[in-house]
Amino acid sequence: MQSDKPVVFSAKGVSKTFGAGKNLKTAVDNVTFDIYDEEFISIVGGSGCGKSVLAKIMLGLYKPTEGEFTYRGAPIKNQKSHWNEVQFVFQDPFGCFNQFFTIRSQLEDALNILKDKPSKEEIRQRVDEGLMAVNVKPEDIEGKYPFELSGGQMQRMLLARIFALRPKVLIADEATSMVDACVRANILDYLRKLKDQLKMTVVFVTHDIGLANYVSDRIFIMHKGKIVNQGTPAEVLDNTSEPNTLKLLDDIPEVHKTEWIPNSHRAKKA
Ligand SMILES: Nc1ncnc2c1ncn2[C@@H]1O[C@H](COP(=O)(O)OP(=O)(O)OP(=O)(O)O)[C@@H](O)[C@H]1O
Ligand SMILES: [Mg+2]
Repeated sequence: MQSDKPVVFSAKGVSKTFGAGKNLKTAVDNVTFDIYDEEFISIVGGSGCGKSVLAKIMLGLYKPTEGEFTYRGAPIKNQKSHWNEVQFVFQDPFGCFNQFFTIRSQLEDALNILKDKPSKEEIRQRVDEGLMAVNVKPEDIEGKYPFELSGGQMQRMLLARIFALRPKVLIADEATSMVDACVRANILDYLRKLKDQLKMTVVFVTHDIGLANYVSDRIFIMHKGKIVNQGTPAEVLDNTSEPNTLKLLDDIPEVHKTEWIPNSHRAKKA
């Protein structure tokens, strides 16, 4: 795709392998793409296809074993300064919060990493806004610890933290998987809204092609480390004969099919 926006991430022939010899595992296999400013990209594929490894390359947690990967035109050298602009939400929300501190104190603490640290009042206000963005009344978590919340609620806390942090780029790895379908649509709507408000770039990693269709500007379909299909939802989904894409369409939970794939000939597939 050509865009007049600046390129955020650029991958040219990027591969990432683990191990060596007969234990060599190619997690990401020769992928090439550009992601532009303010795009909402979904990376979709089955378990083990390399989505999270690719997401970790974007976060600067892994360096490619082959190929060239850049963020805004330069290789990622300093993780700390990279994370000032690029934030992430991972699968396990409990792993990201310390059980011994209140949720509010941790949400507020997260803002201390910012280069231009906001005032105390502003931090409080931004955390409140973040909570309200994910439909949680600030008073409902007042004095609460992570273990007092459910998995779904904790994932919302992670999203609230992102909303408060306002990064330039957000990488969300199955961030909504523990949340029920209704809340999930709600969160994704907020994520899109916030993306527009903050002019954020979002890379959303999911198994669910229906969700991807619902929120994305472009979709990358991954299979065995390769990107096997990419483009706008219409380009990727409509009348496709690409087998992995068809398989993912088949895997959409029945209850979501009409909700996520309203377009008539996509519904035909359902
Ligand atoms: N640190 C590692 N060492 C060795 N192999 C790894 C490592 N991380 C990932 N892999 C392998 O790379 C492949 C891709 O893993 P990845 O975590 O990216 O899958 P995924 O698409 O995110 O799957 P899921 O949807 O289940 O999260 C898998 O076969 C995995 O076992
Ligand atoms: Mg994963």
